[in-house]
Amino acid sequence: MQIETRDSTPYPDQKPGTSGLRKKVKIFMQPNYLENFVQSVFDVLGDVQGKVLVLGGDGRYFNREALQTIIKMSAANGVGRLLIGQGGLLSTPAASCVIRKYHAHGGFILSASHNPGGPDEDFGIKYNVTNGGPAPESFTNAVYARSREISQYLITDSPAIDLDTIGEFSVGPTTVQIIDPVEDYAQLMEHLFDFKLISQALKAGSITLCFDGMHAITGPYAKRILEEKLGSPHGSVINGIPLEDFGGGHPDPNLVYAHELAELMMSPGAPMLGAASDGDGDRNMIMGARFFVTPSDSVAVMAANAHLLPGYRAGLRGVARSMPTSQALDRVAKAMGINCYETPTGWKFFGNLLDAKKITLCGEESFGTGSDHVREKDGLWAVLFWLNLIAVKKQTVAEIVRDHWKKFGRDYYSRHDYEGVDSTAAEGIVARLNGQLAELPGKVFGNYTVEFADDFRYVDPVDGSVSENQGIRIVFTNGSRIVFRLSGTGTQGATVRIYFERYERDPQKHGQDTQTVLKDLIDLAESLGEVRLRSGMDKPTVIT
Ligand code: G1P
Ligand code: ZN
Repeated sequence: MQIETRDSTPYPDQKPGTSGLRKKVKIFMQPNYLENFVQSVFDVLGDVQGKVLVLGGDGRYFNREALQTIIKMSAANGVGRLLIGQGGLLSTPAASCVIRKYHAHGGFILSASHNPGGPDEDFGIKYNVTNGGPAPESFTNAVYARSREISQYLITDSPAIDLDTIGEFSVGPTTVQIIDPVEDYAQLMEHLFDFKLISQALKAGSITLCFDGMHAITGPYAKRILEEKLGSPHGSVINGIPLEDFGGGHPDPNLVYAHELAELMMSPGAPMLGAASDGDGDRNMIMGARFFVTPSDSVAVMAANAHLLPGYRAGLRGVARSMPTSQALDRVAKAMGINCYETPTGWKFFGNLLDAKKITLCGEESFGTGSDHVREKDGLWAVLFWLNLIAVKKQTVAEIVRDHWKKFGRDYYSRHDYEGVDSTAAEGIVARLNGQLAELPGKVFGNYTVEFADDFRYVDPVDGSVSENQGIRIVFTNGSRIVFRLSGTGTQGATVRIYFERYERDPQKHGQDTQTVLKDLIDLAESLGEVRLRSGMDKPTVIT
């Protein structure tokens, strides 16, 4: 085996976004594009001699080719051992679990999460650090800076590795170990939840479920855990085989993209629990029979009930939510006398809080929930959490959520996405909003008086690092909010997200239609941000 030093020239566009570097497959397939990024990571990592790295991806188009390149580059850079999921597969939370369990130095996860896959769709790569979580901004900024000046990368001339056979191989100085992608993760779940209780309920048919793998990574995980280990009947997992193009679908678990599941759950024969996960397995959607649980409500319900489950009996240290997520979680934290932290969008900000043991549970409105068991959000974990909760409380999903609203009040909540907006138009929207921030406080719009308006700035309470421009908040004196932000994960044009929230304490008013309740705020957002006008779209592309 020979180590080759190959010359390369920088690409200008390798700045990682909310969650790693995501681009169209065709961009990733340009000569040396992937190699430049991977070498930039190695250059920032420094000495990796003898260290362990974890590799795996969500199985999308280009996953296997990219892995073979990273294996050769890891060997050329002197990595000691690579742990790779069989078939090149590892869900994002499973990768986090494996990094932590085997004290790896870090790992590469190949995924563009919920973005579609295939030759004309998206690919992505992110680096996770020793705690199992996404690399912090200081690291990704350094990788970006390195990618702007890179002139060489290291690679071996070794043959491709058989990714499908469990076992060990040598590539120069590196031992390549192909591992079962599910087992370590399944063991962790067994430790957190009452598998015996859940299994009894599933086998007796007192809990019925349908899990939609969306032809993405969680199929094998869900089949092994829900069907084989817990005994949910065969067929409880649908779309369970990972496909390179996710069967042509959008592997994003919401009511629009997980429509097969959504239709089943709205039908008369719906099972008690319906759930779906995304491309790389870190998101979750939870539904009861004819009932949709908003992710913001889900994390609040989980926090209020965590003490009922084995892994969380000791109680919660604190909780956190991303800024645009509704304040339902804050109300639970207040009642429990624990802290609720408000972080910028993206999972990386929770990592410091988890490591510093300031929080146990955290979540985002974008169907992401997690806890201190790994350093990523975790789709299947959330499903098991709800399963365990239903088994303990012996209530339906709808009953659990309605009881929660009775106790804490209901946060009516919705997000409107305008996808594929012209970038200049999007910048215009942001500039227009920024221009109004100073004069908004005190202004009255119908029933709403602005308490404050700002561009969210986060100071990390653990390391003091500052993140600016994390979204425009307009907060009203009655606790209602409108939030505007630009997506950091899109690969084409800009996506404008508007988040609406209105609190209702009165249980008599908890049964209303969300969009109707939020109508005043939706109209106000248009007059403030002119999103429809400036984007030329007459309505959002996705409403969740
Ligand atoms: C989106 C979500 C965000 C999530 C991220 C990665 O990012 O909004 O909550 O952490 O995907 O799954 P955005 O496109 O809004 O930057
Ligand atoms: Zn994801």
